[in-house]
Amino acid sequence: MSELARFGVSIDAALLEQFDEQIERKGYSNRSEALRDLIRDHMVTEEWHNNEETVGTITIVYDHHTRELSENLTHLQHSFEGEIISVLHVHLDHHNCLEVLVVRGRSQLLQHFADRLVGTRGVRHGKLTMTTTGRSMVSCVGCAGEGEHDHGPDPNHGHNHGHGQGHGQGHPHPHPHPR
Ligand code: NI
Repeated sequence: MSELARFGVSIDAALLEQFDEQIERKGYSNRSEALRDLIRDHMVTEEWHNNEETVGTITIVYDHHTRELSENLTHLQHSFEGEIISVLHVHLDHHNCLEVLVVRGRSQLLQHFADRLVGTRGVRHGKLTMTTTGRSMVSCVGCAGEGEHDHGPDPNHGHNHGHGQGHGQGHPHPHPHPR
């Protein structure tokens, strides 16, 4: 467990009042936890900004009846198969499909992939959620004082799932829908 550090912050009283109101609405039990989340969020933003290896999810909604759309999306996903960890496909109704892709790789590449998917003609809505592998959070400040568990790198606890295992794992090839 990393060492717990304490620091004082000088801040405009009105601003702090606003902050307290906001974090109370969000259900934070104290300022420290809210501040830790803000710092982590900033670090995730940096991770994406610096083109580091990272993870995210891309969500798209589209009408599978749109001509060639399913084929185009499948073709695109094959072009980025090394970045796709997993795909969830839900048939929302007679027309609409929802797909969530879990992606991992250099942030610029993931951003590019998301732009291509979302920008494909016929995709009704799409969004990239940028999150983190968690590795950049070297000091697991959130765990400080909550016990002795260690979130540091542990060679005996590797998640070596490997990449590019899209095939044979529910890869979303064009699928027949009942008309
Ligand atoms: Ni579908």
